[in-house]
Amino acid sequence: MTIKTVFLSLFALAGLAACNTRGPEGAAPKTLIQLIPLPAKLTETADSFLLDKQTVLVAATEADRQTARLFNEWFSSLSGFELQVKDSGSMNAIVFSTRPAGEKAIAEAYNLKVGKDLVTIEGDDAAGTFYGMQTLIQLMPVQSAPAYWLPGVNISDQPRFGYRGLHLDVCRHFFPVTFVKKYIDLLAMHKMNTFHWHLTDDQGWRIEIKRYPKLQEIASRRKETMEGRYADNKFDGKPYGGFYTQEDIKEVVAYAAERHVTVIPEIEMPGHALAALAAYPNLGCTGGPYAVGTKWGVLDDVFCAGNDSTFLFLQNVLEEVMILFPSTYIHIGGDECPKVRWDKCPKCQARMKAEGLKDGHALQSYFIRRMEKWLNEKGRQIIGWDEILEGGLAPNATVMSWRGIEGGIAAAKQHHDVIMTPGGFVYFDHYQSQGKNEPLAIGGFTPVSKVYGYDPVPEGLSPKEASYIKGAQANLWTEYIGSPEHAEYMVYPRAVALAEVLWSPKEKKDYDGFLDRLKHHLPRLEKKGVNYAKHVFEVRPTVESNGKNGVQVRLDAKLEGGKVVFTTDSSAPDMHATAYTGPIPVTQTGTIRAIVLQNSKPYGNEWQQRFLFHKALGRTPELPRTPHQNYNPGAFTLVNGIEGVPEFNDNQWTAWSGGTAVAVVDLGDSTQITQVGLNYLANREQWIYPPKEMRVDVSEDGKHYKEVLLRKEPGGNGIVRWRVALTDVKGRYVKFTLRALDRIPDGAPGKGEPAWLFIDELIVQ
Ligand code: ACM
Ligand code: ZN
Repeated sequence: MTIKTVFLSLFALAGLAACNTRGPEGAAPKTLIQLIPLPAKLTETADSFLLDKQTVLVAATEADRQTARLFNEWFSSLSGFELQVKDSGSMNAIVFSTRPAGEKAIAEAYNLKVGKDLVTIEGDDAAGTFYGMQTLIQLMPVQSAPAYWLPGVNISDQPRFGYRGLHLDVCRHFFPVTFVKKYIDLLAMHKMNTFHWHLTDDQGWRIEIKRYPKLQEIASRRKETMEGRYADNKFDGKPYGGFYTQEDIKEVVAYAAERHVTVIPEIEMPGHALAALAAYPNLGCTGGPYAVGTKWGVLDDVFCAGNDSTFLFLQNVLEEVMILFPSTYIHIGGDECPKVRWDKCPKCQARMKAEGLKDGHALQSYFIRRMEKWLNEKGRQIIGWDEILEGGLAPNATVMSWRGIEGGIAAAKQHHDVIMTPGGFVYFDHYQSQGKNEPLAIGGFTPVSKVYGYDPVPEGLSPKEASYIKGAQANLWTEYIGSPEHAEYMVYPRAVALAEVLWSPKEKKDYDGFLDRLKHHLPRLEKKGVNYAKHVFEVRPTVESNGKNGVQVRLDAKLEGGKVVFTTDSSAPDMHATAYTGPIPVTQTGTIRAIVLQNSKPYGNEWQQRFLFHKALGRTPELPRTPHQNYNPGAFTLVNGIEGVPEFNDNQWTAWSGGTAVAVVDLGDSTQITQVGLNYLANREQWIYPPKEMRVDVSEDGKHYKEVLLRKEPGGNGIVRWRVALTDVKGRYVKFTLRALDRIPDGAPGKGEPAWLFIDELIVQ
């Protein structure tokens, strides 16, 4: 019998005996439990539940029926049929039941029990029931079948943080409503609950405001767009534009509400306002003319803070915004507002005088406070980027800490609510891989592991202060991201890692365990057509000593069903390449290349590494003087056969600051030596200089050394591959003595300071 016919016959059996015996006793296959984010508490039981065509969904309130509907949506996309929804039922049923309001409840918490005859999801609130439903989906297989076994479990779950957000910049590039809805659906699937919609910026105003038609006609369009790297200063010459109608926005907000996602609109002020100024030049300090931004970055023209028309305009805009967005929070931006126009503007100067404001920061603070007061009177609260701390925080503002964690710490100490969005951890516009094939990104390096390792609560806060950290959010700025596919590539799977950071108990965090669950999660993302990035499942190499006198490479891949293949002759690895079964010894100078195959096809990027083969390979040297802590990857790295890169950010370089460095290589036996050498780096801008003097001594016993080479001021620039042939030299121990330049010469960067000495490989032939 094929698997399929087993299922069919079970299904037939279950269908016939719908009342008490559902499937033969003990026949349930045990489905692996692979949940993301990990629940707070989970106990497996011996039960199994058979979900078949007769299973009913029980939901007695409108909110629970909505959750049942969403379950059915997923279920029918999997199985091709929907389950019946009823008001009651106690056999072969999945019961969605939110506790009545008013009972003692934990926000967004739920209990999920999978028993033999019944699945119950009991939410402390409607969101909790919804999250229980999301967990239930993850207990199901992803392959279509006529019936599905669910493993018996008792889950009691609740989020660690109340604010679990993802942001999308639709100004630098515009994204269609269908994509915005998909973005929200994916958020909710990972138990995230906030979508921060960045709607206005210098390069485009993207929300229809009926009172101000020029926002649609003028501010939503730009003449052209920057192309390639910022430094290239090139433009594509193509008009670009788009905005959401109020009907579009209602549709998105309603869609999000069904999935318990709050949409927070951001209307930027007083900076990042050029698009609005292009439409209404009287709102700027100079009066224009202005054009919608075509270049990225921070631009000088901002809303005039001295002109009451600015406030009237923003209030009228927000009147319409508040009708569309029921969220308590309105994001008012507040970041990156240059003060150069204000400094020269008579109206702004008059305002400062009248209000007793001492500088531009104080004027910005006045601006934000004035808007906050107005919004608070309407029952709304503001969120602003951490610059709103400068010049004094508005009384009730929530701070988004993005320039690091310091803004968050400062705000928490002032007892203001904080959302952590630090650039180094959760800016998903940053690179996620150092691979050569990455699409152009703004910069940075934030791999999945770094996101997963992030903890939103900074150290050093008291428990009371820490309670102001409401959660975290990842931001997707889209200067370099022009399509939905590219956006998904940047966000997934990093957002999955963040979802676990924000939902699961801190003490349960475990990166390897996360990757194991993630590989089972990928088919769920594939089912939703997500163009996720594959880096974490590509080849993971470990270059190590073979325990004796050489170097070997271990290859690992976390991909389910993935097969690692490799070549050692520089040819491209494909389905005909050698299958990896154990460590690969490095036996010659050359390149090892490897890739993961899935169903005989390449998965993700290949890994390749060139190795130098020589007699000191794998013979970890003694380093009597410890290298500088910032560049100390371990002495083995000096003889691993791998050359470092000139950017020296690859953990291959060992460095000392000034003084003398010594490295002693033990070749194991007395050996004929025909060449010695080393690679050093010279990058004078970065205070990295060639050694002032290099000496090599050789010894048979490790005590009595004989000098075989002395070289003063070897010079050079970039990576210098220094090699010297020797004749009639024999010995067991080779000692390299390298004197760094102790004082950088006058006129050079770092003058008077000790120079850095950077070494990546010691070579003996
Ligand atoms: C920001 O990244 N400018 C908030
Ligand atoms: Zn002004």
